[in-house]
Amino acid sequence: MSQAAAVDVMQTLRDRTIEKHKLAERHPLQHALAIGKLPPEQYAALTAQLMIVHRELFAALNRSRAVPAIAAVLRDYHDHEPRCRRDIEHFGVDASAVAAGIATAKMVDDIKFAEASSALDLLGALYVLEGATNGGKFIAKMVRRAYRLEGIAGTESLDPYGQAQPERWEEFKRSMRGVAFGEVEIERLVAMACRTFDAVAEIGDDVLNGRV
Ligand code: HEM
Repeated sequence: MSQAAAVDVMQTLRDRTIEKHKLAERHPLQHALAIGKLPPEQYAALTAQLMIVHRELFAALNRSRAVPAIAAVLRDYHDHEPRCRRDIEHFGVDASAVAAGIATAKMVDDIKFAEASSALDLLGALYVLEGATNGGKFIAKMVRRAYRLEGIAGTESLDPYGQAQPERWEEFKRSMRGVAFGEVEIERLVAMACRTFDAVAEIGDDVLNGRV
């Protein structure tokens, strides 16, 4: 008896979030950043809020290594908080004084809830933030030019892996594909990925509206 082909988790995540990605690219903050027109204070404010998200997400994943799928996918280099911290400090922001805005706090609650109820979902958020290194590489170039930055200083969180980015993204996809996710689990990953895209957009709104 022939079996139905297993669902490709990475293709599903990509297909089911493609519209969210289009919205992300068109978000006024992301657009301004990509063309080098975002004021540096707003870039620093965005990175400060993302620092909190990265910190909470990595910590939650790290505490959930007993879940085999998480142990199989998580790498130490997925810890982006130190890179965000160095970036914002480069712009004179005191990382220890950064407080979560409304959208950031909502995302942190989502992460905590996922950790407590269904830790596997956290990989949906990791997908979005790791996937963002694809465009981040190019955006970092524009940011360096616009703000006249030298080397990687100030853009480590946008372009965390330098030349290793394609290889690490491939490794992420390979390790995700190596996990035998069930259909319900994939649905949950997609849902968490969608909420993460929404959170990044809402954090962008908070930055543009001067709320953080
Ligand atoms: C102006 C802003 C952005 C640009 C220009 C951009 C560009 C790109 C590019 C060129 C890729 C690679 C596409 C491919 O391999 O076919 C990519 C992938 C991706 N980006 Fe972005 N991006 C932007 C913003 C964002 C943001 C804000 C997020 C997250 C909140 C994000 C999440 C992702 C994800 C998850 C992928 C992987 C898609 C896949 O599954 O293959 N991007 N982006």
